[in-house]
Parts: sequence; C-alpha cells; structure tokens
Amino acid sequence: MGLLDGKRLLVTGVLTDSSIAFNVAKLAQEEGARVVLTGYGRLSLVERIAKRLPEPPPVIELDVQDTDHLDTLADRVGEHLDGLDGVVHSIGFAPQSCLGGNFLNTSWEDVATAVHVSTFSFKSLAVACLPLMKEGGAVVGLDFDATKAWPVYDWMGVAKAGLESCSRYLARDLGRHGIRVNLVAAGPLRTMAAKNIPGFQEFEDSWPERAPLGWDLTDTAPAARACLALLSDWFPATTGEIVHVDGGVHAMGA
Ligand SMILES: NC(=O)c1ccc[n+]([C@@H]2O[C@H](COP(=O)([O-])OP(=O)(O)OC[C@H]3O[C@@H](n4cnc5c(N)ncnc54)[C@H](O)[C@@H]3O)[C@@H](O)[C@H]2O)c1
Repeated sequence: MGLLDGKRLLVTGVLTDSSIAFNVAKLAQEEGARVVLTGYGRLSLVERIAKRLPEPPPVIELDVQDTDHLDTLADRVGEHLDGLDGVVHSIGFAPQSCLGGNFLNTSWEDVATAVHVSTFSFKSLAVACLPLMKEGGAVVGLDFDATKAWPVYDWMGVAKAGLESCSRYLARDLGRHGIRVNLVAAGPLRTMAAKNIPGFQEFEDSWPERAPLGWDLTDTAPAARACLALLSDWFPATTGEIVHVDGGVHAMGA
C-alpha cells in the first residue's frame, strides 16, 4: 500500500529536477498517486524534466498571472484526471528589486508582482481547482517562515507572510467543501528560486549550524515528504496549519 494510493494530484512548480515540486511529484508517484504537472514559461524544459519522473506525467500550461489559464485550468486538468484529491502550490517569484537589501526602495509595481505570483496565486489556484474537488481533498503550499525579518529576503518575506494568512482564510472558506489547506515552511534549499536571491549565501552559511537536526541545502526530500503527508489521509483534521521542515531552526533562540 502506498501512502497516496488512488490519489489524483495537480503539482505546480516543477522547473528543474532540484525544484521542491519535482521531488513531490516523484515521491507521490512512488506512493501510488496519479500526477498532472503545470509548467510556466519554458514548457518544453518542464516536459523534458517531467520525463525523469518514474511515470512521465502530462504537463499543462499555467501562468498564475493569466486569468485565461486559471479559468480553463479545471477543464484542461479534467482531460487527464476525472477529479482532484490534492493540489500542490510550489510557486514563488519576486523581481530582483524586491530582494537583497533594497527593502526601503522597492517600487509598488515590483511588490505587486511578487504578491500576485507568490501570495494571491494560492487563492487563485485553489479556486480554479475547486470544480474538480467535489469529494474534498487537500491543498498544500510551500512557505518560508514569515514570522521574522530575515537578511535579504525582504519583500518575498512580506509575500510569504501574506501566504501564511491567505492559507488560514482559505482553510476557513474551503473547510465546508471538505478541503484542508496547509503550508510546509521549508528551510533554505538550492533551487532556481533560491539562486535568484542575491545574498542567499547568508542562509546557506548559518542554517546547517543553527538547526538542531542539521540541514542539507541540497535535499528537497524532507519538504516533499511533509507535502505528501499533508496530502494523505493521515492529517484528516488538520487545516490552516504550518508544518516547519527546517531542521528545527524556527524553534531556536538566536
Ligand atoms: N528554495 C528554498 O530555499 C525555499 C524555501 C522555502 C520555501 N520555498 C518555496 O518553494 C516554492 C518552490 O520553489 P523552489 O525553491 O522549488 O524553486 P523553483 O525555482 O524550482 O520553483 C519555483 C517555481 O515557481 C514557478 N513560477 C514562477 N512564476 C510563475 C507564474 N507566474 N506562474 C506559475 N508558476 C510560476 C516557476 O516556474 C518554478 O517552477 C516557492 O514557493 C518557494 O518560495 C523555497
């Protein structure tokens, strides 16, 4: 028996094989789920990466800033799966001016882009998938602990604070549909999104030392496994929760 036997999942956010979402899709397939991916931008690249999964899944296009993509998402997913039991939001983006110590000078336009893609899209994606979730299910998003002001993370930190709040309101409004909404707050991982953060090295240097369990910057499996657990039937009464998968850093004093 696999943890996700028979589950039908939509996984967003695969860009490379170091993407957190890649490991979510891989482990989910290994645990018995049927998976559809969404890809953004370089769709041929996502399709190439998808071929590295145990069972190459269909890839459909989704730019979360494109209302046509969102409006047609359920129909396009419905061509491959007769419903959804789980949705994974593994999407984040902020223009360079939002990151790296420019906090006091970032323009609203750039902040608006960061919040649109990284925060509001959690709601947009969940609502777009609602017609396929008639039997309830789980929505899981990827977070970076937003209870603190970090070095260099700047407006992305504000966007993540919004994501944390958004997940609680979604949990409130989707509970009556039998849908659980939770976040996994991962420690720093060397993905493409992380490489685009100027000064990310600051996290890399300190995290493994500060984590009581230690921390491997290249291993997305712990975060992916937590996503699988939240997508499974083993958290039936948990919603609006944030599970920290950070080696324990969030619980430590300075
Ligand atoms: N890498 C880390 O250190 C870390 C830590 C905690 C949380 N996270 C979060 O994990 C999630 C996944 O990031 P990752 O680290 O795997 O990096 P990644 O670069 O592999 O994934 C980011 C994804 O966002 C997608 N994306 C960007 N703009 C989009 C848009 N307009 N529409 C649809 N998709 C879009 C990209 O195509 C990419 O697949 C993000 O929410 C990120 O903030 C990452």
